[in-house]
Formats: sequence, structure tokens, C-alpha cells
Amino acid sequence: MSPPSGRPFLQIPGPTLVPDRIVRAMAQPIIDHRGPRFEALVRECLDGLKRIFQTERGHVLLYPGSGTGAWEATIVNTLSPGDRVLACVNGFFSSGFARTAAAFGVELERLDLPYGAGVPAAEVQARLERDHAREIRAVLVVHNETSTGVTSDVPAVRQALRRAGHPALLLVDTVSSLASIDFKLDAWGVDVALTGPQKGLMLPPGMAILAASERAIAASEKATCPRSYWDWQPVLERNRRGQYPYTPATMLLFGLREAIAILEEEGLANVFARHARLAEACRRAVRAWGLELLCRNPAEYSNTLTAVVMPEGFDSDAFVAHVYRRLNLSLGVGLGDMKGRAFRIGHLGSLNELELLGGLAGVEMMLKEFGAPVRPGSGLAAAEEFLTGA
Ligand SMILES: Cc1ncc(COP(=O)(O)O)c(C=O)c1O
Repeated sequence: MSPPSGRPFLQIPGPTLVPDRIVRAMAQPIIDHRGPRFEALVRECLDGLKRIFQTERGHVLLYPGSGTGAWEATIVNTLSPGDRVLACVNGFFSSGFARTAAAFGVELERLDLPYGAGVPAAEVQARLERDHAREIRAVLVVHNETSTGVTSDVPAVRQALRRAGHPALLLVDTVSSLASIDFKLDAWGVDVALTGPQKGLMLPPGMAILAASERAIAASEKATCPRSYWDWQPVLERNRRGQYPYTPATMLLFGLREAIAILEEEGLANVFARHARLAEACRRAVRAWGLELLCRNPAEYSNTLTAVVMPEGFDSDAFVAHVYRRLNLSLGVGLGDMKGRAFRIGHLGSLNELELLGGLAGVEMMLKEFGAPVRPGSGLAAAEEFLTGA
């Protein structure tokens, strides 16, 4: 096959397309990571990320790494082997977060939920109320489960902790929500929020990013999980001088500073509203095709991706591979329990109406070509009607 012309459509739920402004910001000579220019860059990035995490009191920590590394940083800094955690598991990534805790000898009390469901705050409250000895040290939640397109109600989970009068830490994965779906570290009483750069922040992959509350920092002084690279005490200490205890990902920090500027020029509230609008257009297209959303509760629909149940008799992985071969359009495959049974349309990061419609046109065409009973134009019409307010 000849190489495809035109730009590739990266409509997976991250990494997302990197805006040219960010690419240009990263295209510059490397600087001394112990010099004054770097110090200023670090301060701008850390202060900017505090605004993105919506925290004044929290501490932001950055490592070269990925979201998986951020899981580990969260666990090893706040917990000790033998501690109990309540792990809310409603998909592939929440399962990975729980597995990371277990790997460090943390005992899991799992709240297992079906793929497509969010975290039920009432059930969290009931579990915590039963913990009379207050042995549960933390509650693990994935804000936006990327394998299912479900956004859980984090403030309701915090409320559940309050109602149960339980002192557990609230540890939240915001890998596919931060900078796309509203998230407030301070106001929601989250102790650690972890994320990566390659989704709402519109950067290439390559960093583990965390925001930790004062309570989480205090917990880290008692936590005994083995840690070295991920230990956040030396990072916090060197950050005070605008440095890192290792060679940092300088280019990504140039990009991060630009990404924060782009997000703030649009305004965080507008960024969230844009994601909500594009997500709704996508869901309307899916319904018009006669297909089912994996997320069942409209209050939990994700604004960063839509997981679509593949029609009976078709394999979603084969479909995703076909779409890529034919159109150079990348969609997310089915993960975990949904392998072969669902595909995922990412609509996050630097994305506008036309780009979304281009991606939806590709999915629609390919469903038809793949033999699914989809009427050409049906999904696009529904999306366009919504976007034009018709
Ligand atoms: C919700 C969530 N958590 C964690 C991860 C893991 O992040 P990474 O692939 O950057 O290690 C991902 C990756 O997509 C994710 O979506």
C-alpha cells in the first residue's frame, strides 16, 4: 500500500495531537538543568499546573515517566506494606491502579463494578462504615475510566468518606480527565491526583505528574513502601531551588509551559465546555448509527472519549485495524473485558468540531464497509444537528 496522503487522524483517547505551538515551543536548544533559565521554567510549570489541578495548597510533582509511573509514585509515597485500601475497580485502568498497590504488599479490598459503571458513592460509604477499626488507609478511584468512557463522581466519593467519618486518603487517577473534564483538587478534598501529559495537556507522552495535598505529604513521612526514584521528598526539596534530583525532561517542560498558556488563553471553563459539546455530538452520532454506548448512566458519560459496543457478530479489534489500514484513522481498541467487543473514539485535547466530524465520518464509512448495518450520513447528520443547534 502506498503511504497515505494528508494528515493522520489520531482519534484514540490519548496520546492526542500535539498543537504546532507546542511542537515549536519544544524545538529549541537544550538548556542547563541547573541554570537560572531552567529554574524559571520549573516555577512557571509548577505554578501553572497548580492552576490546572485547581489547587492552592497542593504540591505538584513531575517525573520523567508515564501515568503508570504516577500510579507507583502515588502508592509508594502514601502507603506501607500491609496497609488496606479500598480499590474501586470499574475497568482496565482502575484494575491496573489496584494491581500497582498490591505489588507493594498493600492489601486490597476491591469494590468490583461492571465495565460501563461508575463508582457508586453509597457503596463506598457502606464499605467504609463497616471498617470499624479504621484499617482502610486509602480509597483508589479512577476519575475517568479510559477503557469504558465512564466518569465517576469524585466529589460524591469524598462526601461518602465524610459521611462515614472515615480518615482514609482519597487517591485519584486523572490521566484522561485533567485539563478536559473539571477536576478540583482542593474543593473536592482529593489527597493525590495523578496524571500524564499526553491527553488533556496535549503534550507528547513522557511524564508522570502528581498533585498532593498537605495530608498526603504528611502521610508520606510515615509511609514505608520501598521507594527511591519515585520518592517525592527529594523532589520537593530540590524544587524549592528550581531543580530536580535527576536530569529532567527539559523539552517536555518547554512544551508544558506552552500547553498551560494555551489552556489558559481558552479558559479552563471553556475547555471543559468544548469537551462536553464535542462528546455529546459524538454520542448522538453513535446512537444514530443504532449502536450502544458502553457507559449506561448519562450522568457518568465521559467527555473525553466514547466507548462503543460493537454490533453482535463483529470483532472490534478487527474493525479498528481495518479503519487504520483504510483511512489512517486510529481508534482505541477494546481493553480488558471489552477486548474485541468495543472500540473507543477519543475526543480530547486539541480538537475542534471539524476534526471530530472528520473522525466520525471515517467511523461511519468504515462501519458500512465492514458490513455493519449503518446508514451513511446518519451519524454525521445527528452530530451536525446538535452542533448547529438545529
Ligand atoms: C486512566 C488511565 N490511567 C493510567 C494510564 C496509564 O498511563 P500511561 O500509559 O501513560 O502509563 C492510562 C493510559 O491510557 C489511563 O487512561
